[in-house]
Parts: sequence; C-alpha cells; structure tokens
Amino acid sequence: MNLDLKDKVVCITGASGGIGMAIATAFLAEGAVVCATYRQHQNKLDAFSKELSQAQKALLFTYHLDLHDSKSQATCISAICNDHTRIDILVNCAGSALEKPFLLLTPEEVQQQISTNFSQQALFTQQVAKVMLRQRKGSIVNISSLLGKRLGRGVAVYAAAKAAMDRLTQTLALEVGKKGIRVNSINPGLVATKMSKNVQANMPSEFLEMSPISRPGTPEEIANAVLFLASERASYITGVCLSVDGGLGI
Ligand SMILES: NC(=O)c1ccc[n+]([C@@H]2O[C@H](COP(=O)([O-])OP(=O)(O)OC[C@H]3O[C@@H](n4cnc5c(N)ncnc54)[C@H](OP(=O)(O)O)[C@@H]3O)[C@@H](O)[C@H]2O)c1
Repeated sequence: MNLDLKDKVVCITGASGGIGMAIATAFLAEGAVVCATYRQHQNKLDAFSKELSQAQKALLFTYHLDLHDSKSQATCISAICNDHTRIDILVNCAGSALEKPFLLLTPEEVQQQISTNFSQQALFTQQVAKVMLRQRKGSIVNISSLLGKRLGRGVAVYAAAKAAMDRLTQTLALEVGKKGIRVNSINPGLVATKMSKNVQANMPSEFLEMSPISRPGTPEEIANAVLFLASERASYITGVCLSVDGGLGI
C-alpha cells in the first residue's frame, strides 16, 4: 500500500526514545520530512542520523523540546514552522513511566507523571492543532498505553494520565474533524524499550505467555500502526484508540 507520506512534515516528540526512533525510521523510509524532538538525549539522535543514508539524513531535522517548559514548546513549534512552513502530522510519543505504589508517590512525582503524560502534551497538541487549523488539514497520533484502558499495579497516575490522553483524543477528534484534522491514539502493550525493562522485570512471566501473541511487541510494530493512522489511507478513521498489544488487553 502506498501511504503517500513523501514530503509530509511530521513532528515526532520523544524521538530520542525507543518507540519514537522507530517511528522516525518508518517515516524516513516513506520519504517524509521528520522533525524529531529530544529532551536530554540529543546524542541518541546524532548517533541515529549517522546510520542513515545521505538522502534520509537530508530529511531529518532535530529540535529540543522539554514539555515541562512552555517556552521550549513555543520555540520548538515556531522553529519547525519557520524551517518547513507547516506541520502535516504530529506524533505525541514523549512520555515517562514511574512504577511505584500510589501511596508512596510524592506530590512532585504525581505532578511529573500527569504533566509529562497528559497536561503538557495537551498544551503542546493545542498549539500544533492551531497550526493545522490554519492549513485546514492535519493528522495527530497520540502514543497512549494499554494501561489507559486496563488496570495495572504500581502505575496509577501514569495509567490515569494515559486514560486522560485517550479521552482528549476522542473529544479533540470531535471538535476538529470538520476542519480537516483527524486525531487518533495507539495503545501499545508491552514494547521492548528502556522504559519497559522495569515493568517487564516486575511482571509475572505467565502474563505475557497467556496473551495470544505471547511476546513483547517491537517498536517497529508500533511504528507501522502509526504510519497507517497518520496517513491519508486512514482518511475515515478518527477518534480511535487502537490497541497494538499482541492481544494482551483482551
Ligand atoms: N515501552 C513500552 O512498553 C510502552 C508501552 C505503552 C506505551 N508506551 C509509551 O510510548 C511512548 C514512548 O515510550 P518508549 O518506550 O520509547 O520510552 P523511552 O525510550 O523512555 O523514550 C521516552 C521519550 O520521551 C522523551 N521525554 C520524556 N520526558 C519528556 C519531557 N518532559 N519533554 C519532552 N520529551 C520527554 C524522552 O526524551 P530524552 O530521552 O531525550 O530525555 C524520550 O525521547 C511513551 O509515551 C510511553 O508512555 C511505551
């Protein structure tokens, strides 16, 4: 299937992480212009760029973004618009998971989990959606989590923030659909990245084994679903929270 993503301008937050980098790789393979954001690990995107062909290197642009800093959000968006004049696709992939019993969380940890995984993402999305409104076209894909739909011990605030992101996906889809903007979420199950190492270590082994596909997903499997939802091949799909979890959630 031709996804027709060539020359589309894609902003991927959290592109220095495991899933974000796989999403960047997949868009680059389609010939999209990738605006990849990092917070602390610019070095990871530098190393990533070194492995690319010359043609793909020319399509990769990196930007600093700390979601907790409103100035950083504004600077990132205006730099992308100055460099490329538009943003066709936004993939909200930045996130951080803290696994700790709810009653032991400090107020700062609660706030950090809500900000990174929901409230600051919502504000960043609002600013990018305004750019898309002016274009009267755009596609937003939020990387949520299976934990936004299902329960899990030790991740109360992370899960609540992801559930809030799912509701935002649906209500925003309702508000901007007539204006040419689609909004969808992907809810990954367990994906083999640095973030999931601790979760996997604490998870009973039979939990994964009992699931239909019986293994963690790969970042590339998440990226494939993102490409489809972001593309015009999904032109009649909006407000969807799509589980990509090997059946873990059933
Ligand atoms: N791995 C899983 O099993 C799994 C399952 C379900 C959902 N998810 C979701 O998938 C997304 C990516 O996860 P991952 O496994 O790829 O995690 P990861 O490798 O730890 O990457 C996290 C990314 O988010 C960025 N980030 C963190 N805090 C940020 C902030 N305040 N402002 C801007 N960027 C920030 C990090 O940037 P720096 O490293 O540059 O600081 C990094 O690029 C997350 O939203 C996560 O919740 C993951």
